[in-house]
Amino acid sequence: MDWDNLYIKHPEFCIKELAEEVVDFVPLLKKLPGSEKEKKVYDLGFGAGRHILYLARLGYKVYGDDISNSGKEITQKQLDKEGLKAKLGISDMTVIPYKHNFFDAIINRGVITHNTLDNIKKCISEMNRTIKVGGLVMTTFISTESSEYGKGKEIEHNTFVPDSGPEEGVPHHFVTKEEVEILMSSFEMMKLYHYKHKGLLKVGNYVSAHWIYFGRKI
Ligand SMILES: C[S@@+](CC[C@H](N)C(=O)[O-])C[C@H]1O[C@@H](n2cnc3c(N)ncnc32)[C@H](O)[C@@H]1O
Repeated sequence: MDWDNLYIKHPEFCIKELAEEVVDFVPLLKKLPGSEKEKKVYDLGFGAGRHILYLARLGYKVYGDDISNSGKEITQKQLDKEGLKAKLGISDMTVIPYKHNFFDAIINRGVITHNTLDNIKKCISEMNRTIKVGGLVMTTFISTESSEYGKGKEIEHNTFVPDSGPEEGVPHHFVTKEEVEILMSSFEMMKLYHYKHKGLLKVGNYVSAHWIYFGRKI
């Protein structure tokens, strides 16, 4: 998959509707001490920026990184259009370019899953490093109950690389509830639920199934 040009080649991926789990997470952000403009919120893998814009509109101090230049350009254009600010960069999820204990919260939606297990662990460790003690994390993982589970080449246990379609060449690591609990054990779990639906883009027998995790750095 050419993540870099994804949002130019496939404008259908520039989804504007907010993900429910991100909207659900905001009341927890509100409860953290301080005013909105004092709270630093990082969207790791912000895509075409729908949640960057949402959080900036709500008044948070917003930061984001992604590996897609096209997503960054689209997001920056919309921020400029609305007179909003966010600090956007290009970075791989395994290296968060911020110092220890920097963010009040990190969201990471539909991103961490697109990697091998080792890199997923690196990303989680980076999120833990850069969130303040008491700060929050929201992340999602693709579930073994997804209809995409088992499709393509298995490059390690439960990591499959589709050999066709828009996600050709992108690793997908599928997890169970128990694996999420183990992977996220450096955080205190606040909420973990399974979200299963027909998917926004696909038709037929496609079933999107994800684990949604909310936690706190201890
Ligand atoms: C399914 S999209 C989700 C976008 C956004 N979080 C949302 O919910 O709209 C996955 C995003 O992860 C980004 N991504 C994939 N691999 C990445 C990596 N190794 N490091 C950082 N971002 C990555 C892609 O460029 C893409 O924008």
